[in-house]
Amino acid sequence: MSKKRIVVLTGAGVSAESGIKTFRDSGGLWEEYDIMDVATPEAWERNRDLVMEFYNQRRKQLYEVEPNAAHYALAELEKDYDVRIITQNVDDLHERAGSTHVMHLHGELKKVRSSVDENLVYTLDGWELKPGDKCEKGSQLRPHIVWFGEPVHMIPAAAELSATADIYVIIGTSLNVYPAAGLVDYVRPGTPVYLIDPAEPGAIHIPKFTFIQEKAGTGTKKLVEEYL
Ligand code: OAD
Repeated sequence: MSKKRIVVLTGAGVSAESGIKTFRDSGGLWEEYDIMDVATPEAWERNRDLVMEFYNQRRKQLYEVEPNAAHYALAELEKDYDVRIITQNVDDLHERAGSTHVMHLHGELKKVRSSVDENLVYTLDGWELKPGDKCEKGSQLRPHIVWFGEPVHMIPAAAELSATADIYVIIGTSLNVYPAAGLVDYVRPGTPVYLIDPAEPGAIHIPKFTFIQEKAGTGTKKLVEEYL
């Protein structure tokens, strides 16, 4: 018999216990920085050094942290389920924990791309992107991140994948950012949906879901032990 498919949508909260700050919690990144200054194409035009530095710091930190119990539990689930991860995160902690199907909606920190041709994507050697680092067409390389105001090219594939779920799991996202937050709309009616987050969901508009009010590590363990 083929394995049941679990589609997992993750956000910053799944990496919080690895020591990576979330965006909108108290003490989160968007309290320290203004989105408009570091995460938009306009910011890149206005102040490239600041944008590069912001992502350099995130990338540097990524080399210093490790996957946590939630990432490992999701990787482990592949033994019994066909697990597909859709992540809003730009870290590589799902992959490092051993998950083999990971779709990055908002880009990847360890990659950079041409600022004139978005198809020219490279894996950066080390953590630091510098002014003067150029693509093969001679333009400055930029972080391989989907900034606010840019299209999320992976959304149609992610929506299609969401519609194939036998079980849908949402971990550590405030569901504030669209179009990612709208992916749950594609889950087929009747599919069990689980939400793992220490905070009450805000404007979640799924008709029925099981809320596991825990941090990602203990919540994912509970999901596996009590619900799957
Ligand atoms: P947010 O910072 O908006 O939400 C983080 C969620 O994680 C909240 O619901 C928290 O309650 C929850 N959380 C905090 N600690 C947790 C823990 N230990 N375990 C589980 N959950 C925990 O982050 P996202 O929803 O991922 O985009 O943000 C979405 C997008 O907005 C990001 O991809 C990023 C950001 O701006 C870009 O930069 C393009």
